Amino acid sequence: MTKIVYVEPNGNAIETEAVNGSTVMETAIMNGVPGIVAECGGACTCATCHVYVDDAWTEAVGGPSNMEEDMLDFAFDVKTASRLSCQIKVKDELDGLIVHVPARQG
Ligand code: FES
Repeated sequence: MTKIVYVEPNGNAIETEAVNGSTVMETAIMNGVPGIVAECGGACTCATCHVYVDDAWTEAVGGPSNMEEDMLDFAFDVKTASRLSCQIKVKDELDGLIVHVPARQG
């Protein structure tokens, strides 16, 4: 199991145990993380799974694909650390990953 931490806009941290091979979005939904809506179910067509990757983790997570980057145009308050959480696969190397949930979502 891989630990993924979601930080809500108010600073509250939600720690979860994620299954490798699943996504950061799926883990959020399974754990009822508020603010991760995921309307399209992970098809990269809604941008309501938008998160900010914590500064300490941007390198390990990597950047978005071209398709994801196009979809991020539809997210609110996009920053350089923005990613769509349905496009981040959980793996051992991301154990302890911290992502921040935006204040508003699609
Ligand atoms: Fe729709 Fe990620 S769940 S883009």
